Amino acid sequence: MAAAVCAFILTFTTLGPTVVSGVLSTPTNVRLTSYNMNLMLTWDPPDRPASGLVYTTQSKSSVSDYKVGCVNISNLECDLSHLNNSIFEYGKYTGRVRAQSGTESSAWEESNQITLDKDTIIGSPNVSLVSNGAAIEVSIKDPVFAISALRKVYHSANYNITYWKDGQREKARSNSNIQQNRVVLNDLDPLTKYCVQVQIITERTPNLSKPSAAVCESTTTEEEVPWVAAVGTFCTVAMAVALVVVAVVYRKHMSQFLCPKDTLPLHLKEYLLAPPNSSMYLVMRNSHPPDEIYHQVSIIADGRPTTGGSKENLQQTA
Ligand SMILES: *[C@@H]1O[C@H](CO)[C@@H](O)[C@H](O)[C@H]1NC(C)=O
Ligand SMILES: *[C@@H]1O[C@H](CO)[C@@H](O)[C@H](O)[C@H]1NC(C)=O
Ligand SMILES: *[C@@H]1O[C@H](CO)[C@@H](O)[C@H](O)[C@H]1NC(C)=O
Ligand SMILES: *[C@@H]1O[C@H](CO)[C@@H](O)[C@H](O)[C@H]1NC(C)=O
Ligand SMILES: *[C@@H]1O[C@H](CO)[C@@H](O)[C@H](O)[C@H]1NC(C)=O
Repeated sequence: MAAAVCAFILTFTTLGPTVVSGVLSTPTNVRLTSYNMNLMLTWDPPDRPASGLVYTTQSKSSVSDYKVGCVNISNLECDLSHLNNSIFEYGKYTGRVRAQSGTESSAWEESNQITLDKDTIIGSPNVSLVSNGAAIEVSIKDPVFAISALRKVYHSANYNITYWKDGQREKARSNSNIQQNRVVLNDLDPLTKYCVQVQIITERTPNLSKPSAAVCESTTTEEEVPWVAAVGTFCTVAMAVALVVVAVVYRKHMSQFLCPKDTLPLHLKEYLLAPPNSSMYLVMRNSHPPDEIYHQVSIIADGRPTTGGSKENLQQTA
């Protein structure tokens, strides 16, 4: 009786993971993990499991005290992100769990600490393909997160798209650094089956996401799909018809424009055909190197003869 009382007192005063025999032992292998930004506490039953065991969990962030998680549950895991304790994308969290049986409780067993955005495992994206001639359009859906969304948590997340001819996985090609959800692969052979797999690369987690399941689709011929050709033909015919209609309706205007019937006014014609009579024009037309005429002039004055000259041409052109 004294031993039982002693064990009872010890149970309620000891907080360490080692619990005195005779009372409930703690759950084992307690770990906190995250998948798509959830916060999952998982554990194994105590080494000496009692019958009718239930568990109670708590969690805390690096800046808060423990808050209640799941209470009196019989399964071996608790999704702490589904509780009303709001969790934050970039927070650091720790969980703990204890076993209970009737009025007896084990000590708390604490988990590892995780940083949500760094340690979460990103699930696979969902990929669908549509072939369009010799190209394949890849549509990518991000995995759904327990809190927030992929592009809110990881601003520069990229897709790594790997594609290969069916049966030639070893010759796969990859395009990374892709941020759009829709990508067209157009360096493909026509009439060939290709398979595509996508992984997400983020700047804050060292590992890639889980790869999507490989999905396959066949390209068709190089030609445009029939409706594109049909629309093209329709447009060409419509334009030709429109041109003919315009030509018929405006044929009078157009013939007048191209071969005008109206003649120039008479005075304008005369003016244009009349020989120019501008004196400047005449001078320019008649200009040729002027001959220099040099006359011998004798001037006799006072009986003494003097010789000199005058350039007549200067007088002429002045
Ligand atoms: C959990 O179980 C204990 C012991 O059986 C009981 O006292 C307590 O009220 C239960 N809590 C809830 C929330 O059910
Ligand atoms: C969370 O809070 C809402 C109201 O704020 C309440 O109705 C709901 O039961 C709570 N859920 C849990 C798991 O505590
Ligand atoms: C990343 O990959 C390594 C090696 O595969 C593994 O040990 C580690 O747990 C992974 N980390 C995360 C956060 O998934
Ligand atoms: C992927 O998307 C398709 C169509 O939207 C849906 O039917 C399928 O269940 C999704 N797969 C996964 C793993 O989410
Ligand atoms: C993209 O995926 C392929 C195939 O898994 C891999 O070989 C390649 O290294 C990845 N690229 C990047 C940038 O991670």
